[in-house]
Amino acid sequence: MELIKAQRGTQDILPGNSERWQAVEEVMRDEAAVNGISEIRTPVFEDTRLFQRSVGETTDVVQKEMYTFEDKGGRSVTLKPEGTAGAVRSYLEHGLYNSPAPQKFYYLTPCYRYEKAQAGRLREFHQFGVELFGTSLPLADAGLIAFANGLFDRLCVKNLKLKINSIGCPACRAEYTKALKAYFTERKDRLCETCRSRLDRNPMRILDCKEPGCAEAAKGAPRILDYLCDDCKAHFEGVKSALDSIQIEYEVDPSIVRGLDYYTRTVFEFVSADLGAQSTVCGGGRYDGLVEEMGGKPTPALGFALGIERLLMIMEAQQVEFPEPHPCELYIASIGEAAQKRAFQMACGLRECSIAAACDEVGRSLNAQMKYADKLGAQFTLVLGDDELEKGLGVVKNMKTGEKTKVNLNNDIEGQFAAISTRAEDEEDLSF
Ligand code: HAM
Repeated sequence: MELIKAQRGTQDILPGNSERWQAVEEVMRDEAAVNGISEIRTPVFEDTRLFQRSVGETTDVVQKEMYTFEDKGGRSVTLKPEGTAGAVRSYLEHGLYNSPAPQKFYYLTPCYRYEKAQAGRLREFHQFGVELFGTSLPLADAGLIAFANGLFDRLCVKNLKLKINSIGCPACRAEYTKALKAYFTERKDRLCETCRSRLDRNPMRILDCKEPGCAEAAKGAPRILDYLCDDCKAHFEGVKSALDSIQIEYEVDPSIVRGLDYYTRTVFEFVSADLGAQSTVCGGGRYDGLVEEMGGKPTPALGFALGIERLLMIMEAQQVEFPEPHPCELYIASIGEAAQKRAFQMACGLRECSIAAACDEVGRSLNAQMKYADKLGAQFTLVLGDDELEKGLGVVKNMKTGEKTKVNLNNDIEGQFAAISTRAEDEEDLSF
């Protein structure tokens, strides 16, 4: 029979790799807690209009990439292509604005975009995102960028380049849009069909079109930085000086416009040379108009999202050491039926005390059991035979150092083992 395979652009995260995911997720949750950022979980599918209104009708994401379908009740629903829209909906729906500002949320979520799958570009991918509501100060932009930067440091990721830009507010953008429209109208025949339709509705979107002809035509286009109003200029200067004050290096890159419509003022990306064509690992910015557009009161807001698959690709390329998982702390090998039973009882007792113990479950020979313990990465082993049972004495062996410690099998084996393993742990070096 034909084996059914995973969908193109999706990945299984298998044992051996899933531990790496858990390790980076743990750091993210921990850093978020230190920064007073609480977790928000929103559904994987939402009313399609949520993304049309927030991400924007003329974006690649909405025009080409959404997983949209009609449910059995005839409603149009869409698998979330990103996390911001759902966070804003939830913020409004549950009156989260009633708590003191700034409200700070993070999420770890799968996202879905029907893109051409390639290395670093998937149809199902995962984001760690942060959204802050209720602050317009440039310090908040710099603080958010510093948070992302600190996260990369903690994960031992090196050589990232931080690029920042300001794309202004609706007031300064009106002038800019006029200039862009004039520029692209002269080059209309080089644009793809989608971009030709964007010319009237939203010419800024042409700047991030992935079609080679459009990218070529966009070289030399007017730059938003030359059109900023005084308030937006002052805000951008404030962000830069706040970043300078905490020694975060950045490059002002006027070509960064981001692919989603909700951004205003600051936008930023962290890029890595270790990623190939899909070089952006993290992107974000301000979206001061979005909450109001979605039906709330005017509320300044900002955030970013980081692609976990891309993050792990960089970490792999840079050979970052991950904390070694210890799926098995103690393997209790046994010779004979009585010892097998005793090993089983002991393993169950140890697990109740949160000690990862394993024993023979398939009737292997002692030799095969020891090989299996090695495969499990058991830190310690204990061999039980008739002799050990009779005397009530066993020997726990540290598989790394070879050190042996006698244990009394009839008295608090959990406590005795915990003391042995804590001693060994103290001597171990931990990575991030
Ligand atoms: P975004 O730039 O579309 O921004 O996505 C953020 C990150 O998600 C990217 O930098 C990348 O690492 C990852 N990513 C995006 N698409 C894919 C894909 N097809 N395959 C693998 N990884 C991908 C947003 O989504 C905004 N919601 C960020 C934000 C939050 N802005 C404000 N708040």
